[in-house]
Amino acid sequence: MSAKKRATFGGRLSAVLVAAGSAVGLGNIWRFPYLAGENGGGAFFAIYLLAVMIVGVPLMISEFSLGTATHRNAVGAFRQLNKRWVFIGYMGVLASVLILSFYLVVAGWTAEYMFHSVFSDQVQNPDPASHVAAFENFITNPWKPVLYALGFGLVTHLIITMGVQKGIERASKVMMPMLFVALLVLAIHSILMPGGMEGLKFFLAPDFSKVTAKTILAAVGQAFFSLSIGLGTMITYASYFKQGTSVRGTTLQVTLLDTTVALLAGLMIFPAVFSAGIEPDSGPSLVFITLPSIFSTLPMSAFWSTIFFLLLVLAALTSTISMHESVTAYLEEEWKLSRRAAAWAVTLFTGVLGIVASLSMGIWSGYTLFGFNIFDLLDYVTANILLPLGALLTCLFVGWKFDQKVFRQQLYPDCNVGKEYRVLRFLIRYLCPLSLIILFIYNLGWA
Ligand code: PFF
Repeated sequence: MSAKKRATFGGRLSAVLVAAGSAVGLGNIWRFPYLAGENGGGAFFAIYLLAVMIVGVPLMISEFSLGTATHRNAVGAFRQLNKRWVFIGYMGVLASVLILSFYLVVAGWTAEYMFHSVFSDQVQNPDPASHVAAFENFITNPWKPVLYALGFGLVTHLIITMGVQKGIERASKVMMPMLFVALLVLAIHSILMPGGMEGLKFFLAPDFSKVTAKTILAAVGQAFFSLSIGLGTMITYASYFKQGTSVRGTTLQVTLLDTTVALLAGLMIFPAVFSAGIEPDSGPSLVFITLPSIFSTLPMSAFWSTIFFLLLVLAALTSTISMHESVTAYLEEEWKLSRRAAAWAVTLFTGVLGIVASLSMGIWSGYTLFGFNIFDLLDYVTANILLPLGALLTCLFVGWKFDQKVFRQQLYPDCNVGKEYRVLRFLIRYLCPLSLIILFIYNLGWA
């Protein structure tokens, strides 16, 4: 135990709330639909669900256990257990910084759309082409999206340094159910739009004929991204769990919440995409051009649009906080920086990289690497390489190196080992690592 007393979350419900706050975010509502749209819809969703169940759940349980067993940040946890494996923690910190940088950019877009809903009547425009033009116009502006990203970074920073955890917990408690209801209402509305059924079919009826190794990797990567696993964020969060917080229960609830939000987002987006004649493979702009098309068909469109984007801003904020916190905790505990200095280091670094990512969607879009602009590169490298690799190594570590007794204690503090333990062990030791290794090999084109 470190000499300094570490913070803890209030209890069982707050553990679920903060972990779900990290998991539920732009990954569910922005990234999931755009990837599903690019990767054939139903087949992508089916593979995604499979990945969540087979790899996602065991991995989240593993990360939580590492956190509750060590009460350390991601790097410190591995260092305490086995120094040779500490590089997994460093990979996680790197992934967190990179994801946070481009995540802030998209979070900034949601903030702009929130304000825009109040101050502009674009949202009432029924022409989908005008929403495409408005989005293009905004992200190619040289300074506006940059300022929004930096603003979002600063708000995240403020919350991290003021430690207003209680406020966040309370906000999540209200925001999450509201987001659920809003998504549900919009999904029903969207399905009832003319031509909506077509979109429903696209999203829910899998056509496996076009599935490639790339599709599978994208779905698996998205599962990790959405659940905030494979990079140690959940290790850090679990290190703050109060004693007695259930690792298994929290995992199941967070996974269920996160997956339901992704499902609802798909049900909201695709019927509207087909109804409005938007291309499902529009990429990162998909949600930003589809949502206004939905709102424009509603009475009091500005009101709904404002509320919805506000909820999205809050969902994004609870996710940026978790990424920021995991890096800040690392700098604070391993580098012995003050919390303020640690937080500033994270904010400044991600701010600079965020500026680059934002400009790469506009005036710097000409600078590419392997055919990706910087924004897409950050997105691809983290979700399709760093997270699956982190997941693979974490499974190997927990399956083969982590003391079984300690692992069992985290899962069954009352020593009543459940029947599912053997299935879980099998998944963590064999099935998860093997399937990830095979997936990597296929993607490298070796088979
Ligand atoms: N899970 C978040 C989302 O779906 O928006 C994104 C995220 C948060 C990824 C925290 C990774 C992380 F550590």
